[in-house]
Amino acid sequence: MHELCNWLLRFLILAAALVATSCAQSSQTQHLQQVLGIGLENLILSTLYNDAPRQNASYDFIIVGAGPAGCVLANRLSENPNWTVYLIEAGGVEGMFHQMPVLAAYLQGTHSNWGYKSTPQKRACFGMYNNECFLPRGKVLGGTSSINYMIYNRGNKRDFDRWAAAGNKGWSYAEVLPYFLKSEAANLAGLEDSPYHNRTGPLSVEDVQYRTPAVHAYLKGAQQAGHPRTDYNGESQIGASYVQANTLRGRRHSAYRAYIEPIRYQRKNLHIVTMTRVTRVLIDPVTKRATGVELMYRNKYYKVRARKEVILSAGAFNSPQLLMLSGVGPADNLKAIGVPIVKELPVGKLLYDHMCHFGPTFTVNTDRQLLNIAHLNSTVVKSFLLGNPTTMLSSIGGVEALTFFKVPSSKEPADMPDMEIITVAGSLAADQGTALKQGANFKDELYDKVYRPLQVSRQDHFSFLIMQFHPKSVGRMWLHNRNPFEWPRINPKYFRNEDDVQFMLEGIKEAIRITQTPAMQALGTRIHDIPLPGCEQHNFGTDDYWRCSIRTLSYTLHHQVATCRMGPESDPSTVVNAELKVHGIKHLRVVDTSIIPFPPTAHTNAASYMIGEKAADMIRGDWQ
Ligand SMILES: Cc1cc2nc3c(=O)[nH]c(=O)nc-3n(C[C@H](O)[C@H](O)[C@H](O)COP(=O)(O)OP(=O)(O)OC[C@H]3O[C@@H](n4cnc5c(N)ncnc54)[C@H](O)[C@@H]3O)c2cc1C
Ligand SMILES: *[C@@H]1O[C@H](CO)[C@@H](O)[C@H](O)[C@H]1NC(C)=O
Ligand SMILES: *[C@@H]1O[C@H](CO)[C@@H](O)[C@H](O)[C@H]1NC(C)=O
Ligand SMILES: *[C@@H]1O[C@H](CO)[C@@H](O)[C@H](O)[C@H]1NC(C)=O
Ligand SMILES: *[C@@H]1O[C@H](CO)[C@@H](O)[C@H](O)[C@H]1NC(C)=O
Repeated sequence: MHELCNWLLRFLILAAALVATSCAQSSQTQHLQQVLGIGLENLILSTLYNDAPRQNASYDFIIVGAGPAGCVLANRLSENPNWTVYLIEAGGVEGMFHQMPVLAAYLQGTHSNWGYKSTPQKRACFGMYNNECFLPRGKVLGGTSSINYMIYNRGNKRDFDRWAAAGNKGWSYAEVLPYFLKSEAANLAGLEDSPYHNRTGPLSVEDVQYRTPAVHAYLKGAQQAGHPRTDYNGESQIGASYVQANTLRGRRHSAYRAYIEPIRYQRKNLHIVTMTRVTRVLIDPVTKRATGVELMYRNKYYKVRARKEVILSAGAFNSPQLLMLSGVGPADNLKAIGVPIVKELPVGKLLYDHMCHFGPTFTVNTDRQLLNIAHLNSTVVKSFLLGNPTTMLSSIGGVEALTFFKVPSSKEPADMPDMEIITVAGSLAADQGTALKQGANFKDELYDKVYRPLQVSRQDHFSFLIMQFHPKSVGRMWLHNRNPFEWPRINPKYFRNEDDVQFMLEGIKEAIRITQTPAMQALGTRIHDIPLPGCEQHNFGTDDYWRCSIRTLSYTLHHQVATCRMGPESDPSTVVNAELKVHGIKHLRVVDTSIIPFPPTAHTNAASYMIGEKAADMIRGDWQ
């Protein structure tokens, strides 16, 4: 019955979208957003979806948060019909917009984003209002995998070997690769026989079928500059590659689509509730055993019990927040906010992230062949809605290629990259300043001076994002009061360590060098050289100019990790052990990206699936 309602609703929405796009001839996406009212759609779908909580109900497992790790756990644990599972999600259910990969940035302006921001940064985020970098996070069934850029990237072999070397038994590359494979359904040209890819798992990984001339030229150019072609999820990361994406036939394939939708109405032992906030974990202060959670559903508090385990999969900001609200955290912070201490642990004391430089941007002499939302018309939207995976709407927010490489300052082994170039068909101007700029809190004056000229001329252009994998700058997060509905305070301390700026500078220089190759010059590639407001005192293109630019166009790729760091109990920087059990607390695990102990050589979404798969196996091992 529910399934039927869902399909009927989706059909009506599809029809509405077709009508809306036929009517609208300009700024279609904004128009679409208004017509469909993403919030309303969310509300209706989630009402259909909910297994409302009952006071003092009990389940074998309670999973808090439906991000990649939480969705994997919900699916895998409910495979056993003897176990009951309750999956609790603060956000709603995905709608039509989540499925359109090109609109990734727009989702940050919806209810599907928690809307966190950093504290004002002293050494970064100068291009943002109040020096505050925005820190989006998914708040929807699917979590951040429902609003992210869909890049599929696992990490370097050495990343996991280092986790294991730090005392985390079972987490070496050889031991985690099977879990990456277990989740993957690859459809990648030329990699059909690769031992590094599986074709039959739940999560789709495919080539992006919409590609611009810039990315083809870029990959040729990168090779001319000495970067080999590679499968960055294969034998060696070093080199350049078309991006591998979590899309299925050109539509976003989130954790919800991959792990929940296929089983939603098949398993009676899996209950799901959306638009519901867990406010703390119930922990017996004497036995130190987690017994359930307190949650708020439609303005009313409930307690729900866990017979076997409570599992926090609330993400890198909310899992630590929930631990602290439940009395598990640093003594000084808990005392300051008046939460009785159940167990003193360094929750939130460490926070690594991957900062980028948004740029440089380059113009090319093609005409209307690169990504620009202004080129979107109703024919294209209709074609996408009817299933065509090759339209501009299937571009994953413009991301086309990734290049992993080393810079002269590197102290890492030869097979361990320090930096990544992310090739993007467009810039802040590609959406006319409507989404990316707002999503990242960029100042109008910066947009108007540097990017508006590109918006006006509509000249084809592309950008690089230059990302550093292993920053020395380390941040932290904490709670400033005990209200579970308030945001945690997050200070990533970007670029506090000057060495990180040097790595970024060397990365930018390498990207520029690639644009000077014959393949890239054949497109008439020319650097967009309007100096940034605040950096005009330096000559454009000098090292000091770039240093200023790095601190101004600071743009995080949202790979926050280590806030509930994994490691042996003897290591005072850690919160969970190698089985992801919270030190000193029984029947409580943290399973998400917050446990990742070091900044990885990768984007973090794939790892979250792997962590969920591995945790499900460990939990099965404990209870079966
Ligand atoms: C804009 C953006 C783009 C990104 N692009 C990429 C990319 O292209 N590739 C990549 O690999 N990585 C990307 N990332 C990072 C990646 O998506 C995340 O690291 C990953 O999805 C996090 O997964 P998770 O399981 O740790 O938690 P999350 O996905 O954050 O899930 C946590 C879930 O818990 C819910 N929750 C939190 N608190 C509560 C509570 N109190 N009660 C109930 N529910 C709660 C949240 O609503 C959320 O649904 C991106 C991130 C962002 C923000
Ligand atoms: C709630 O459930 C627990 C365990 O399932 C039980 O011990 C307790 O008596 C119940 N309390 C109420 C008020 O129903
Ligand atoms: C479920 O319980 C039944 C009866 O106790 C048992 O025979 C069966 O093996 C269990 N299934 C699993 C998957 O553990
Ligand atoms: C591929 O995925 C399926 C489904 O998860 C799994 O059963 C199989 O073992 C995986 N294959 C490999 C090679 O890991
Ligand atoms: C819509 O856009 C596509 C792709 O850019 C183009 O081929 C087509 O001619 C456009 N159609 C209209 C009606 O403008």
